[in-house]
Formats: sequence, structure tokens, C-alpha cells
Amino acid sequence: MRIALGCDHGGFPLKARIAATLQAVGAEIVDCGTDSNCSVDYPDYARKVAAVILAGQAERGILLCGSGVGISVAANKIPGIRAGVCHDTYSAHQGVEHDDMNVLCLGARIVGDELAVELVRAFVAASFTNEERHVRRLNKVLEIEREALEGKFDSTSSTSRDP
Ligand code: RB5
Repeated sequence: MRIALGCDHGGFPLKARIAATLQAVGAEIVDCGTDSNCSVDYPDYARKVAAVILAGQAERGILLCGSGVGISVAANKIPGIRAGVCHDTYSAHQGVEHDDMNVLCLGARIVGDELAVELVRAFVAASFTNEERHVRRLNKVLEIEREALEGKFDSTSSTSRDP
């Protein structure tokens, strides 16, 4: 599996350990920066990782910032990206299995190196189950995305138009 790896300066201290973990599990890394502790803006790295995934140059991505929050918010603005901050191993695999999460976001100021390694291993080893109820829910998520892109998001409706 090819994984696009990106971070801001807040995530940078964790990056080398994540890269080593990806190498250890046989994943190919597409390095999207940043490459130092110099202050940068996390949306730029969310954008880079998303672009690699959407171009088909990686199947999934891992984004690191200080908390994991800012970079996940930015990534989730990009159609086709389903990013989650997962600081427990259950969410790191269940997010893929049930929700088809394609970007794992971690906060380098929150998780220690050893937990981060386990989170990455859980994320990479997981696959979407394709079970009917999860496909149905994913399709509803995609419908929200489509409506928003078309400027037709219906805030008065609690159900999808195309269930
Ligand atoms: C950078 O200081 C920090 O704000 C950023 O890495 C991230 O934590 C934002 O959510």
C-alpha cells in the first residue's frame, strides 16, 4: 500500500517514527513534507496529501499536526477525503472498516511514539468491510458531499435524498 505522509511543524517530531513504521509494514511512502521544525501552515500539508490520494498516487494518507485536529478539519474540506483523528487503536482500524476513512490524523503533542506506532499499524492493516449497512452509510456521507459541492445541501432534511 502507498501512503502519503504529511505534517506541519507540530507533527514533525513524530514523522520519522511514523515513516519507519510504514517501512516496517511494507508500505511505500509518498513524502509530502514538512521536513523541519520551522513553522508552517497545516492546511498546506492537508492539501498536499489529499492531492496525492486524489491523483491515485497513494491509497491512503497520514497527517500529523500538534493535536491532529486542525489538519483533519482541513483535510475533510477536500471532497474524497475522509479523515479522522484517532488516538485509540479501536478507532484507527474501525474508522477504516466501517467508515472507509482514508486519512489517519495524529497529534504529535498528544500521543507518544509507541502508541502512534500501534495506531499506524492498526490503520494500515484495516480494510473497509463492504457490509451493506456500512456501504449505505458511506453513500449517505457521499451524498452530503455531493449536495454541498452542488450548492444543494438541504439543512432541513435529516435523511439522504438517495438512500
Ligand atoms: C501548530 O502550533 C498547531 O496549531 C498545529 O500543529 C495543530 O495542532 C492545529 O490543530
